[in-house]
Amino acid sequence: QAPKQIANEPIKSFGSADTKDWTSLDSSLKKFNSSPLHIPLVIDGERIYNEEKNRATLTQTNPADHHCALAEVTQANEQDILNSIQAAKDAKSKWSLMPFYDRAAIFLRAADLIATKYRYDMLAATILGQGKNVYQAEIDCIAELVDFFRFNVKYASELYAEQPIESSPGVWNKAEYRPLEGFVYAVTPFNFTAIAANLVAAPALVGNTVVWKPSPAAALSNYLLMTILEEAGLPKGVINFVPGDAIEVTNKVLGDKDFAAFHFTGSTNVFKQIYGKIQSGVVENLYRDYPRIVGETGGKNFHLIHPSANIGHAALSTIRGAFEYQGQKCSATSRAYVPESKSEDFFKELTSNLEGTIMNPVNTSATSAAEGDPHGFVGPVIHEQSFNKLVGVIEEAKKDRELEILSGGQYDRSKGWFIHPTVIKTTNPNHKFLSTEFFGPILTVYVYPDSNFSEVCKLIDSTGIYGLTGSVFARDRDAIVEASETLRYSAGNFYINDKCTGAVVGQQWFGGARMSGTNDKAGSSNILSRFVSIRNIKENF
Ligand code: ALA
Repeated sequence: QAPKQIANEPIKSFGSADTKDWTSLDSSLKKFNSSPLHIPLVIDGERIYNEEKNRATLTQTNPADHHCALAEVTQANEQDILNSIQAAKDAKSKWSLMPFYDRAAIFLRAADLIATKYRYDMLAATILGQGKNVYQAEIDCIAELVDFFRFNVKYASELYAEQPIESSPGVWNKAEYRPLEGFVYAVTPFNFTAIAANLVAAPALVGNTVVWKPSPAAALSNYLLMTILEEAGLPKGVINFVPGDAIEVTNKVLGDKDFAAFHFTGSTNVFKQIYGKIQSGVVENLYRDYPRIVGETGGKNFHLIHPSANIGHAALSTIRGAFEYQGQKCSATSRAYVPESKSEDFFKELTSNLEGTIMNPVNTSATSAAEGDPHGFVGPVIHEQSFNKLVGVIEEAKKDRELEILSGGQYDRSKGWFIHPTVIKTTNPNHKFLSTEFFGPILTVYVYPDSNFSEVCKLIDSTGIYGLTGSVFARDRDAIVEASETLRYSAGNFYINDKCTGAVVGQQWFGGARMSGTNDKAGSSNILSRFVSIRNIKENF
């Protein structure tokens, strides 16, 4: 029976008067900041540390203060990876036969623990490890994560309840929602603790067991989540936490005949490579089944502004879409198309708001982001590799005659990986800055002649390889209809008069098509159906 009432978890405001919340958060921040946590592998419920030094360790540092080590993360060796696969196989039978009610109870309990007892620890681990401000952490590792766990229970209940229509008297038809035969491999990203949680929990909820390779840049929050799931009653071996070298872990997993599904969020390139390897495995008869492949990858998400739009609203939405969490959401706005007649107002709004760089819509005690303050609007990008890549992009823009930096363009690596929100205007509608994903706080804007709205719709649709998110800003209904129709396949999440980030579980099912992923919609029943294999049973009486 599905829980009757499920509501989205309320977001704590962390306003200046919420002193209790700040005190609790500060004490969690201090705890994780005091000395690096030694993070083990968790295989078959056993914690494996690097005591015998026969494994590598990786240090997770605070991106806002890269001299500060937060965690020493044990890296799986070859035998560990094989053991984790075996553990997932061994745990499978008991877990899949456990009544759904009992499996669900574990995830509902974990959701409650995260919303209460561990709220501030989860926030602190995500703020410090992944470079989020408190608002961005709240909407991620609390609200979205908890929503995924609770809504998935509702969706799974509904899925199980869906049965074939009765055929004739004396015959009973039944659909059995079997978990996949084998185990699931989840490779999870740094940018959302909630996404990592959903990638492992959704398949597990419907009876699968999982080998989980977390992102090294999110090890702290992800390990904390693992411990909370255990406290909530997750049996040994159901989810195995295996940080390690991505290629090594993936090769071992994909080499196993019981590999049944790949659940991924990350870059398009990595997804394509693994997709290809899985297909080769199928051709070589390596697997029992055709493995399910569920992936959410990159985007070059757009804001299209029509002359009839409320320009102030469109500009503020663009700031939030492009620069919240430093543009490191897969959904982040990274290109905008602005009509000539409104471009001056639009740019004025953009640059004047970005000058101070602090624009956290929720937190009133925000101080300078350059101090590495977790409460500021603009935080650091995730790590040195990303910082260097983004700096390269900015330097390239400075030299390119078709590009003009209107705001930002500065960076500072002395303490954290800080890059100022950067707005670049281009005169070339086909410039590669309008089609290449940078995954950082860089927005490219093209100004179009007002009369060319239809052409611009077509241009957006045909630019680049992605189809993740996009928005149209307009008051004119004909313009909204035209954009919606022309851009039908340009965005799996299409917004009208709103920024193209911030999908809420149960409200905006999330995922994109084209090279942005398999569009299986996180936060909907769709994703759960990918991790079951239906058996139809007919009985004659
Ligand atoms: N689901 C996240 C968003 O919509 C990525 O912003």
